[in-house]
Amino acid sequence: MTNMTKQPRSIGRGILMNAGLACLLAGLVAANAAEEKAAKGKNIDVSKLPPAAAKKVDFKKEIKPIFDKSCSDCHEGSTPSGGFRVDKREAALKGGEHGVAIIPGKSEKSPLIHYVVRLVKDLEMPPDGSGDPLTKEQVGLLRAWIDQGAKWE
Ligand code: HEC
Repeated sequence: MTNMTKQPRSIGRGILMNAGLACLLAGLVAANAAEEKAAKGKNIDVSKLPPAAAKKVDFKKEIKPIFDKSCSDCHEGSTPSGGFRVDKREAALKGGEHGVAIIPGKSEKSPLIHYVVRLVKDLEMPPDGSGDPLTKEQVGLLRAWIDQGAKWE
């Protein structure tokens, strides 16, 4: 008799423990995925970034042409790639599915710069085969523009 009452209990406990373990594992997997996403763009070696241009940058003359030539095909209008637009300042500063891409005053921390320098796997901009990679000079201008407040005038 004692056996019969004991057994179901231990089975019940076993199921509970398994469920607990499954939850724990699911939690770990979710945490890993989140960490991986956050890791995109983290641990960037800023020494690999071309230096910011040492001059005052003119958005209309020097930055907009870069966006127009290399980015706008995919990043404007109502359904931009990655939810990221470069055709309006407010939208550009808001960022996209991966979060904020432009941090005014901090080009070395701005994911957009990491993407155009092609330091973040699968987020090289423009993507492989979709236009020439930006030159060091262009990256330098973008950096200086962000460092100077990412103005739209
Ligand atoms: C041929 C199309 C194409 C061109 C050209 C292009 N991109 Fe992208 N871009 C994409 C796609 C697709 C994604 C989404 C990638 C993903 O989420 O895996 C993306 C994502 C991004 C993101 C991240 C948005 C987010 O939060 O998900 C930024 C920032 C970005 N691009 C900036 C640029 C810049 C700056 C240029 C120009 C120098 C550029 N892109 C050129 C297709 C393009």
